[in-house]
Amino acid sequence: MRFDVITLFPEMFSSIKDEGVIARGIKKCLLSINTWQLRDFSNNKHRNIDDASYGGGAGMVMQVQPIRDCINKIKQTSPNTKVIYLSPQGEKLTHKLAKELSTLDSITLLCGRYEGVDERVIAHDVDMEVSIGDYVISGGELAAMVLIDAISRQIPKVLGNQDSLNDSFANGQLDYPHYTRPEIIDGQQVPEVLLSGHQAKIDAWRQNQAINNTQKKRKDLVKK
Ligand code: ADE
Repeated sequence: MRFDVITLFPEMFSSIKDEGVIARGIKKCLLSINTWQLRDFSNNKHRNIDDASYGGGAGMVMQVQPIRDCINKIKQTSPNTKVIYLSPQGEKLTHKLAKELSTLDSITLLCGRYEGVDERVIAHDVDMEVSIGDYVISGGELAAMVLIDAISRQIPKVLGNQDSLNDSFANGQLDYPHYTRPEIIDGQQVPEVLLSGHQAKIDAWRQNQAINNTQKKRKDLVKK
């Protein structure tokens, strides 16, 4: 999977490029993340990429030209890339959506700042809007990183031996509880069955716990 990220803050992405699951995916050549500084596509000497909003009101709007030029540049080497704009108005990110997007070869993520992008970008240059939830954050960068992570862990071999099949939501239910050493801490004991060595019993216990967990914490998933 190739990710291209259009942003005013490319340095923010070093946190996922340099560390953890995504960094390992990059090392294994299963992923790449190219960041594009939108100001490099400005056509003025001040490197501005935004202007005041027609109709008035506080806040600046990101202009069409630099974004369009940047997308066109990316499309020179990845003509079929799917252009996603991170926005609270987009389709809500779910496990299902991350899995679907993980089958693509190339995704371009457009990160907004200020009041967002000129609507003509959304109408003519963007294929899809994605939201990470019903709240507003200060820019698309954190949302893009969430999306990159959620997609990347669905790409075969990115996780290595910790596969994502048991992730919460993978089977429409939450994960089961996990325990590690020591066996007892402050009088709190690890459930006996996990120490039994009996894999079929352990699997059945975990499945049961996953169901209970879902009933207790996310009744809305049970109904589905
Ligand atoms: N930008 C600001 N808020 C956002 C959200 N909830 N999801 C995606 N991008 C955003």
